Amino acid sequence: MSRSKLLLGFLRRTCYNNESVSDQRKFRLGILGSGKGSNAAAIADACASGEIPGEVVVVVSDVENAGILERARARGLEALHIAPGKLRARLDETAEASFIQALQRAGVDLVVLAGFMRILPGGFLRTFANRVVNIHPALLPAFPGLEAWKQALDYGVKITGVTVHFVDQGIDTGPVIAQETVPVLPGDTPETLHARIQEVERKIYPASIAALARGEIRAQGRQTVWKRV
Ligand code: GRF
Repeated sequence: MSRSKLLLGFLRRTCYNNESVSDQRKFRLGILGSGKGSNAAAIADACASGEIPGEVVVVVSDVENAGILERARARGLEALHIAPGKLRARLDETAEASFIQALQRAGVDLVVLAGFMRILPGGFLRTFANRVVNIHPALLPAFPGLEAWKQALDYGVKITGVTVHFVDQGIDTGPVIAQETVPVLPGDTPETLHARIQEVERKIYPASIAALARGEIRAQGRQTVWKRV
């Protein structure tokens, strides 16, 4: 076969069959979570629909029977339980090494925390420097830490919301990637407010990850810069 025919065949295969050269290595996401996994499910579905130009290559939980693992398996994704070790709130050294190994073996480009309830040690964050993101159910820096929707309700604010941010050594202190408000309504309970916050989470997290996958977000000190295309 002539060189031009070979080239034409290659171009047809790569450009016209819904597959481009850049599709050959998709942006690889590793998701960590401890809970029911509604964010992880939304992210996996956004990858499947093409909203995120990437794929979930592994889902890891520190909780053996967590819903997030079930939801991952139901979507045919690799789902691993790794025991968190002997410390109450953070991964111990052995667990940290196992988490790093699982994520590296899967070749992840981005580590996505989706309701992961353990503090990540410095070694983990250095290994994936600027490549770990989290979603927090409040408008940071207000109400960091646990049950942020309940903190907001107890405080009496009229507006709370959702923050997507890079993860640094502090608790919910990393550079902000995106935020969206959620009104606190008269008669809200912790459950109703959290449910409305989670609806927003399931949109803003996939949208932020899609922009990261397209290389449209850059961290610059405490700021993040979005390249609008
Ligand atoms: C979300 O509300 C998220 O903001 C917080 O943990 C919760 C996880 O929920 N970090 P799910 O497991 O994704 O449903």
